[in-house]
Amino acid sequence: MDPWPHDGSRGDDNRVQTGVAWHMPAKAITYAVERDVPDDEARRLWIAAGFTDGIPVYGWDGLPALLANSTLLVTARDGAKLVGLCRALTDRLVVCHIADLLVDGTYQRRGIGRELVARTRAAAGEHAELILVSNEEATGFYERIGLRGVGNVWTDAD
Ligand SMILES: CC(C)(COP(=O)(O)OP(=O)(O)OC[C@H]1O[C@@H](n2cnc3c(N)ncnc32)[C@H](O)[C@@H]1OP(=O)(O)O)[C@@H](O)C(=O)NCCC(=O)NCCS
Repeated sequence: MDPWPHDGSRGDDNRVQTGVAWHMPAKAITYAVERDVPDDEARRLWIAAGFTDGIPVYGWDGLPALLANSTLLVTARDGAKLVGLCRALTDRLVVCHIADLLVDGTYQRRGIGRELVARTRAAAGEHAELILVSNEEATGFYERIGLRGVGNVWTDAD
């Protein structure tokens, strides 16, 4: 069937085509650039994403500074619940370092991580180059969303 009917409806097929593959949209998830993300919400997300010991070296004591000193926080929420976060350091001009990308385990594989990276890139500015250091488990994800890797450093720079 035509996935893009011209009458504005989606018929009975509510999938969307991204150009790579067919995806179910992450329904009811809202995305935003937030200035302050509460520490307790962030801590819950860190745990839900699998990082039960908090921040390397600093544990949970490091979390408030991590959030406060970031220059870009893009969130994904299911209602009020924080289910995803992209934490970045950027000049919003030429470079954007993604320092953390987290999606709650029960919300993974629904396109939220991809969307958070896309929105981070958009908020950082069209000419900013993304750069990040990936953990081993996430390399397939970064590859899948079109970044290029050199070792465990990934960038969208040419
Ligand atoms: C890595 C992470 C952010 C991905 O978020 P997500 O919301 O599950 O990813 P998406 O649903 O947007 O996935 C986009 C695509 O990548 C694929 N993908 C997701 N995680 C993957 C993985 N670990 N390995 C391979 N492919 C993966 C998805 O299947 C999807 O593929 P598609 O284009 O065929 O549909 C999430 O798994 C997470 O928070 N992990 C724990 C924290 C972490 O490791 N963060 C990365 C730190 S460097």
